[in-house]
Amino acid sequence: MKKTVYTLPQGRFPKPLRMALVSDLHGGDPAPVLRVLEEEKPDYILMPGDIFERLDGAEDEEHENALALLRGAARIAPTFYSTGNHEDGGVRSWSPVWRIAVKKREYAKKDLNAIAQAGVTFLEDSFVLKDGLAFGGLCSGLINEGRAPKVEWLTEFCRVDAPRILLCHHPEYYEPYLRELPIDLIVSGHAHGGQWRLFGRGVFAPGQGIFPKYTAGVAEDRFVISTGLKKSGKIPRIFNEPEIVIIQIKNEKQ
Ligand SMILES: [Fe+2]
Repeated sequence: MKKTVYTLPQGRFPKPLRMALVSDLHGGDPAPVLRVLEEEKPDYILMPGDIFERLDGAEDEEHENALALLRGAARIAPTFYSTGNHEDGGVRSWSPVWRIAVKKREYAKKDLNAIAQAGVTFLEDSFVLKDGLAFGGLCSGLINEGRAPKVEWLTEFCRVDAPRILLCHHPEYYEPYLRELPIDLIVSGHAHGGQWRLFGRGVFAPGQGIFPKYTAGVAEDRFVISTGLKKSGKIPRIFNEPEIVIIQIKNEKQ
């Protein structure tokens, strides 16, 4: 796992900040991630989804790993978590049978309790205010009608008189839903860097297809995409080491 550091201009943020972007653990080993978080001591930790494989109350190792990450992270810094397509069952939504069976997102109470007990702020198409900053989480839309995210709440989020930080699992939502909105920082994962990286770009990402646009890095000084923490699975990652991202928000001279 590598550590990638990006520096963004301070913009409307009242002071320099450091945030960790932790995405797409998929129930993997949390220990190396927690070691980096301990060293880095960020001001905030942002987790935009696919931390768990499912939020169905399972008691397997993947589930325990994800919970251990949440518990460990929240001890280091205020941690905000919104779900991805895996937690939502959006992976199975590719099947028409599953799509008919699942009408809405249903997270296991047990998991929601465990997340709350870990001290992590869970953002389900909602936002909170903390330290004069607004933190929002836009969930996956894959199991929704029309496979579209629920964006109505973003109107209120964008009216809040505070710098706005949005966790959004799917980077492909940026252009159709987010680009025109006054959001100061948007963080995503999901694309796994395009799985194979050739000549500095990803090859394929779900929702974006072949040679996707948003798989890693920073766009427009405010949109940060992590290639995620999941190691090679059935499809290997090539030239694409899993990563944790540190976002430094500061002006050049600071
Ligand atoms: Fe995903």
